[in-house]
Amino acid sequence: MRTTVCATAVALAAALLSGVSAISKVTRAGRYLYTADGNRFYIKGVAYQEQGAVVASASNPFLEPNSFIDPLADGTSCARDLPYLQQLGVNTIRVYSVNSSLNHDSCMQALSGAGIYTIIDLSLPLNGSMDRNAPSWSTNLLDLYLGTINAFSKYDNVLAYNVGNEVVIAANGTAAASYIKAAARDVKTYLTSISSSALVGYAAIDADSSWRQPLANFLSCDISGANSGATAIDLYGLNNYEWCGASTFQASYSGVESDFASYNIPAYFSEFGCITSPPRLFTEVGALLSSQMSPVWSGGIAFSYFPATSAQGQFGMVTISTDGKTVTTSSDFTNLQTQYGNATPPNTPTQSGAGSTVYPVCPVQSADLLASTTLPPTPNDAACSCLESSLSCQFTPQTTNTTAIVGTLLDTACSLLGQSGGNCNAIAGNGTSGVYGPVSMCDPNTKLSFVMSEYYEANNRNAQACSFAGNGTVNSHAPSTVSAANSAASSCLTNPSATFTPSAPATTGGSGSGGSSSGTHSSGAVPIFNDARSLIGLTVAVVFSVVGGILTVA
Ligand SMILES: *[C@@H]1O[C@H](CO)[C@@H](O)[C@H](O)[C@H]1NC(C)=O
Ligand SMILES: *[C@@H]1O[C@H](CO)[C@@H](O)[C@H](O)[C@H]1NC(C)=O
Ligand SMILES: *[C@@H]1O[C@H](CO)[C@@H](O)[C@H](O)[C@H]1NC(C)=O
Ligand SMILES: *[C@@H]1O[C@H](CO)[C@@H](O)[C@H](O)[C@H]1NC(C)=O
Ligand SMILES: *[C@@H]1O[C@H](CO)[C@@H](O)[C@H](O)[C@H]1NC(C)=O
Ligand SMILES: *[C@@H]1O[C@H](CO)[C@@H](O)[C@H](O)[C@H]1NC(C)=O
Repeated sequence: MRTTVCATAVALAAALLSGVSAISKVTRAGRYLYTADGNRFYIKGVAYQEQGAVVASASNPFLEPNSFIDPLADGTSCARDLPYLQQLGVNTIRVYSVNSSLNHDSCMQALSGAGIYTIIDLSLPLNGSMDRNAPSWSTNLLDLYLGTINAFSKYDNVLAYNVGNEVVIAANGTAAASYIKAAARDVKTYLTSISSSALVGYAAIDADSSWRQPLANFLSCDISGANSGATAIDLYGLNNYEWCGASTFQASYSGVESDFASYNIPAYFSEFGCITSPPRLFTEVGALLSSQMSPVWSGGIAFSYFPATSAQGQFGMVTISTDGKTVTTSSDFTNLQTQYGNATPPNTPTQSGAGSTVYPVCPVQSADLLASTTLPPTPNDAACSCLESSLSCQFTPQTTNTTAIVGTLLDTACSLLGQSGGNCNAIAGNGTSGVYGPVSMCDPNTKLSFVMSEYYEANNRNAQACSFAGNGTVNSHAPSTVSAANSAASSCLTNPSATFTPSAPATTGGSGSGGSSSGTHSSGAVPIFNDARSLIGLTVAVVFSVVGGILTVA
């Protein structure tokens, strides 16, 4: 007896120590997800992020937050919420913004122990995300993304990293897909280099299928002609709010089911949960997690655990007491719990039956898909810092919040340079023509120093031409002649269109910053999409003036 008890205790301890009880690794086969035991994996998820501060203004029509609260950095809150997540029956949470310099051990380990995976968006509000009006895949964003991956790569329960959320919101913005694909490419090679099996995802806004489908197909297509997934996302998310109230598969989902019938990679609803008729019944779960939709979809993420305000109402399913200690659930919570509890999606096809993923050729460019298959290069930190140090006039801001001024200064500098016979082509990129200036991969501050230097040189190094109202400083270490400066700059940028496996930034966070922030409005979107965007735009920011300046000069 005694020996048996001891042996059992030892075996149990050994099992815990050796990680036998660890959360199962989820991998992809064909267009589906599987756990290590070969069972099909369906995401039964909930969005888990408190809404950041929203500053309503004419330039922010979608109420996109400009700050965030990292939900995985506060162990006490996670411990408070974990029993509720378990009660809800979720196996995944989606988190929109995290801060790589904070410690996430407590939350991530607690979630892992409870069998809950995370889908982590890599972008941040304001200058931490791709600007949908002036997209760029630049060193500051790459460094931000890799810094976040570094902070999370030690956890076993990261299912996927999203490289963007609703970056494209209209057909005329689809050129940004070239940049999204470049981000997916570089994040994928980085993950491979650190032996991470986390998937790379993108969360798309729902929209008219005329451009929603070409965009989805472009993000998952092969450019090389060799059935390669090198530039393809691994996991497609659709933020879909079509099912409202007591709807039916036929009324709400049959269209999206057939539109994606032959899609090549795993897909899920990265958000769902309409609010036009509260309380929410969440009967869509019965359709999504059924054999009707399992041929295409691998589950979804209900929006949202925490309260989230929109123009139309509240999306939350719990409220937290003002002292932060008590959770009160609503009938939305109970309804979702019931639906997740009842869902029994089929365990088919088998993993071997799912085969390997096929990567079709990319859809042709059209008015509904402006993106070129010539993608932007891998942002090169070493090249950009080499360039910055050799430039004759440098951006030396007096404020730490350069986000507020860099856009305006780029406008000014490009406009002045234009008047002096130059242009800003070197810092500009065009996702439609596939032409990317050699400095377009650099962070906004380096771009600004570059343009300031061009102007300064164009004015024969007149000190006044490097002032920019006190934002510029002459670099005494720069090569002493214009031609020497040019050759130094070009020696930094010997191969500006190269793609390579990026390495992690020395410190977390970007070196540069984006421009001024303003809202973007898409035309023709149905109201529910506006509504969804107002909540989720957590990760989408805009830096309009940057290209505003570039274009006026061109
Ligand atoms: C991350 O947290 C650190 C430490 O609290 C803070 O200084 C920094 O501003 C935060 N970064 C972001 C992007 O919020
Ligand atoms: C797309 O069109 C809308 C309205 O027609 C406009 O406001 C927006 O700036 C355009 N976006 C781009 C990226 O051209
Ligand atoms: C920086 O400036 C932007 C744009 O004006 C503003 O939205 C943001 O809150 C500022 N950030 C800080 C930390 O002050
Ligand atoms: C980008 O290139 C396309 C195709 O060459 C051109 O039509 C478009 O005007 C360019 N866009 C910008 C913003 O320069
Ligand atoms: C720098 O540029 C900004 C934006 O144009 C301007 O507001 C500011 O006065 C300039 N000078 C300094 C010292 O910040
Ligand atoms: C955003 O701007 C802040 C300064 O305001 C800077 O510290 C940070 O690195 C920038 N982030 C990115 C990703 O550019």
